[in-house]
Amino acid sequence: MKNNQLKILLIGSGGREHSLALKLKESNQNPSLFIAPGNAGTAQCGTNVQINDTDIENLLKFAIENEIDLTVVGPEAPLVKGIVNTFNDNNLNIIGPDEIGAQLEGSKAWSKAFMEKYDIPTASYKEFTNSADAKKYIDDTNQFPIVIKADGLAAGKGVTIAATKTEAYSAIEDAIDNDKFQEAGKKIIIEDFLDGEEASIFAFCDGKTILPMTPAQDHKAIFDGDKGPNTGGMGAYSPTPLITDELFKTIKADVFDKVLKGFKEEKIDYRGIVYAGIIVVKGKPLIIEFNARFGDPETQVVLPRLKNDLASIFQAMTTQTLDTITLEWKPESAVCVVLASGGYPDSYEKGKEIKGTADFSDNTSIQVIHAGTRLNNKKLETSGGRVLGVVGIDSSLKRAIDQTYSAVEKISFEKSYHRKDIGHKALARL
Ligand code: AMP
Ligand code: GLY
Repeated sequence: MKNNQLKILLIGSGGREHSLALKLKESNQNPSLFIAPGNAGTAQCGTNVQINDTDIENLLKFAIENEIDLTVVGPEAPLVKGIVNTFNDNNLNIIGPDEIGAQLEGSKAWSKAFMEKYDIPTASYKEFTNSADAKKYIDDTNQFPIVIKADGLAAGKGVTIAATKTEAYSAIEDAIDNDKFQEAGKKIIIEDFLDGEEASIFAFCDGKTILPMTPAQDHKAIFDGDKGPNTGGMGAYSPTPLITDELFKTIKADVFDKVLKGFKEEKIDYRGIVYAGIIVVKGKPLIIEFNARFGDPETQVVLPRLKNDLASIFQAMTTQTLDTITLEWKPESAVCVVLASGGYPDSYEKGKEIKGTADFSDNTSIQVIHAGTRLNNKKLETSGGRVLGVVGIDSSLKRAIDQTYSAVEKISFEKSYHRKDIGHKALARL
């Protein structure tokens, strides 16, 4: 640490990373922040560095040359590729699991076997590398819907919920025989369909202690009423009435404490984020999937509610002293509405000028989080499918929703699209 100023390198370029950057900037350690590769929003929090998030060699070189004290990894791809092993080998502090720990997200078969071994509640499953065997299993169970998942990373597209035998067969053939997901689909798992409502709970973990964060819910489907194809996420809110205090305690004991026990027994030195994708079926929480990182857009509604200094939490993770920290949360609700390019999640146009974001720069109850944005001759324009996340914070969920949507109305770009019902599911529950 030079001149006592903490230097942080944040890897990634989405809304999640802009939100992390804003929270890290709030730290009373006043860190200097580098974001690789970042977006137009992160450029306002620090220095964007033009290195791709999976270019481990150049990220390492940058961290060494710039005497980075702490690296924080946003997305899963560099984790699964082993960035943490490389940084550890060079005595650099980094937040994220190593290549083995990242299998929690990088291999569904590994993750399911881990859940089974440590008695973590989840759907029953079988794994296959041969399509004839997989089809026979479909015939034998003869229960629909049934869920077919590519084993490896498939950018959120590896899951098929098959309503009929024909759909199940073609999902199996696509993955194993037709290389739809390349290597990631050579192995598949087939699991029982779970009917319930989903929530996301992240936890900080240092290998010795695991601290679950406040719950959130996202809206994956493109259209209102959770209709249409899945996207990276069209909005989120936190907290959620789905996860009562009692259910939270059950999830801590039945999921997170068991995950930590598993890490210890398997000698996995996990100093990163554990993301539990929970589904509540008849009041009982089960795991849909684990991820090895923060979720997007849930991070955008979880971090604004965190009272603790995020940089200090990350430092405690590197020294395995998370046990000295108690997480504290603001009672307010946070809501995020994603503004997407028309056509997303299929094809869409880029380079549309974005207007109206500057009005919120001094607003303490609205954050305009950048995802697919870039500067073109000082003009802000679209550069991706999910363009912005507008986050509103207020005393109740209803007020936060209203606050967010009134801000959304003031931001515009050609062919902008957003869902109109973010948070309504929770209002109905309240
Ligand atoms: P995953 O990539 O495993 O999170 O799956 C993506 C989405 O597919 C989840 O968020 C669920 O909505 C759905 N899904 C996955 N597994 C199941 C299951 N066993 N039962 C019902 N829905 C599922
Ligand atoms: N919001 C879902 C994810 O980050 O995977």
